[in-house]
Amino acid sequence: MITADQHIATPPNFVVSCFCFLLLLGCFCSSQKTCPNCGSMQVPYPLSTKSTCGDPNYHLRCDSHSQKLYFDAMNGSSYLVLRIMASFQRMVVQPSPWVSASSACVTQDMVVSEGLRLNQTLPFNLTFSNTIFLYNCSPRLLLTPLNCTPSSLCHRYLESSGHVDKNRALKCAGSPDLRPCCTFVAGGMPSAYRIRLHNSGCKAFRSILSLDPEKPASQWEEGVEIQWASPPEPICNSKLDCSGPSKCLPAGRSGLSRCLCNRGYYWDHVRGTCFRNKHKSKAAGLLGLEVSIGVICFISFGTIIVLITVRKSSKRFNQAKLDKAREDMLKSSDSGKNARMFQLKDVKKATNGFSQDRILGSGGFGQVYKGELQDGTVVAVKSAKVGNLKSTQQILNEVGILSQVNHKNLVRLLGCCVEGEQPLMIYEYISKGTLYDHLHGNCSSTFLGWRERLRIAWQTAEALAYLHSGTYTPIYHRDVKSTNILLDDEFNAKVSDFGLSRLARPGLSHVSTCAQGTLGYLDPEYYRNYQLTDKSDVYSYGVVLLELLTSQKPIDFSRDQDDVNLALYVSQAAKNGAVMEVVDQRLIGTEPSSNVLNSVQLFSELAFDCLREKKADRPSMREVVQKLERMVKIELEEIGQGSEL
Ligand SMILES: *[C@@H]1O[C@H](CO)[C@@H](O)[C@H](O)[C@H]1NC(C)=O
Ligand SMILES: *[C@@H]1O[C@H](CO)[C@@H](O)[C@H](O)[C@H]1NC(C)=O
Ligand SMILES: *[C@@H]1O[C@H](CO)[C@@H](O)[C@H](O)[C@H]1NC(C)=O
Repeated sequence: MITADQHIATPPNFVVSCFCFLLLLGCFCSSQKTCPNCGSMQVPYPLSTKSTCGDPNYHLRCDSHSQKLYFDAMNGSSYLVLRIMASFQRMVVQPSPWVSASSACVTQDMVVSEGLRLNQTLPFNLTFSNTIFLYNCSPRLLLTPLNCTPSSLCHRYLESSGHVDKNRALKCAGSPDLRPCCTFVAGGMPSAYRIRLHNSGCKAFRSILSLDPEKPASQWEEGVEIQWASPPEPICNSKLDCSGPSKCLPAGRSGLSRCLCNRGYYWDHVRGTCFRNKHKSKAAGLLGLEVSIGVICFISFGTIIVLITVRKSSKRFNQAKLDKAREDMLKSSDSGKNARMFQLKDVKKATNGFSQDRILGSGGFGQVYKGELQDGTVVAVKSAKVGNLKSTQQILNEVGILSQVNHKNLVRLLGCCVEGEQPLMIYEYISKGTLYDHLHGNCSSTFLGWRERLRIAWQTAEALAYLHSGTYTPIYHRDVKSTNILLDDEFNAKVSDFGLSRLARPGLSHVSTCAQGTLGYLDPEYYRNYQLTDKSDVYSYGVVLLELLTSQKPIDFSRDQDDVNLALYVSQAAKNGAVMEVVDQRLIGTEPSSNVLNSVQLFSELAFDCLREKKADRPSMREVVQKLERMVKIELEEIGQGSEL
């Protein structure tokens, strides 16, 4: 058996390596000027250490004294470049060292620039590979949904990585109440341009690359990975700087001139030259070389396929056993009646081989693809990356339970495919996308008015109440958020991704919870006992209510430091009696009727009830449904309309 991941990943990786050859080729004939090495470090195009080479937007500094390469961030902080992966457009820099004062838990960039901050007008940003540990934080941050318990990974780093001395570790960890440490994945942050340190926030950070919590801390690699955008055409001063079918023309507002391709040609930044729009005609000189590279690629491809086939046949026996188990389960158990078992080859066909243009989005669980089954049903295919998976048999049982769940405000789970490494879940396709996109996406999405929002809140509550108490076994969603609420053609809410955590073995670590992008929605009680209950869903649902009320994101680093967390931000405003000021003003208009004001007021009170610190104080989803029903009724009376809202 070969895994779905391999199926998807192998060819592109391969293409990348083939492209690398071509990249090298391209250098001989392009107008790009690659900078000289800095010490022993190569400086690939478009990175630039001088104005005469590379692309000036991609500036790095080669220290003439030490012959080392530095990445200069904003406000005067510099980071040593550890390595450059040109073909992936990424590099790794060293996180700022600790201040030398023997045991202080402060990093040097806290003092200089309040953390790492990238200039957003430049083509660099932080990648999803970084896991950031924040240390020496103020107690206020305990309230934000970051893991601040002594059992967190950042403590493991302090205690056993060997990168931190005893004194410092003591200062950084301190008492869990006063100097908590927190962890999150940078890619999960809405703003991937800075890691903020602050006197009233956290005063030190460490970054680990592609953190694998299963490995011992001493093997975790420190580093901050930065990626760069594909470079545009090369800079030029005159026609002589340009080669091939291009001209030196002023480009953009910068006043710089670039070698723009002639009509009928396009710029290929990987090969660094202009190509004819139709891929047919290629420079004759190159053709021979490309053919031989093609042959190499072909032969290696063949080898891979042979290897795959060999592996496949050795696993065939196990596969047969698995098939049998699956069939038995489907025949014998009633719970499996509605679940359909999909074959990997059918899923691949439906999604056009997991083609890039089929990607609907990427959730915490991985990529989501749109697909069309042979019978014409349009589906959404999702990989269930939940970390520590249960056995295939147990997964099939869980899928059986989940596909039995049937409510008009829940996205139907049609079945799954367990042939790959991670199970693929196949859902009905919902046309209008996520609530998140409608609330926070670009302005092309429809603006949802108060009535629609009220209805979406009500329908979502109905779906959750059904999961909690209307099904055979209570199902906790565990990941309620606006990206998991989809809207159909008539803007009815459909909750998706419910119960996926059931596929994981018990003892799911908080890391994967964070990685699921739950930041900003997570029940604060979770940090005390690591248990998610029905009331944790109520808390997360409360955050969704605030999003509906304010049209603001649950975590937004572009708000003031104290307001990053939406729940804290709105409750602070409510304390000051200013809740109407944070409500999206488009919802209430300039001359709001008392009915609308009343409705908004009740709605915000309901949200605060859901967000109560102690879970026993929060209402159940049933109670939430009742309250919303009443509000919907009042709203209907106002518009004098008997039909369903
Ligand atoms: C960093 O620079 C930005 C923009 O120049 C400025 O607004 C900010 O106050 C500076 N921060 C620090 C800590 O110096
Ligand atoms: C960010 O980069 C742009 C382009 O190089 C530059 O003009 C601008 O001054 C930079 N901003 C700051 C705050 O350094
Ligand atoms: C970072 O840059 C890459 C490449 O330009 C882009 O695809 C990605 O969306 C950017 N991420 C963020 C958070 O801006």
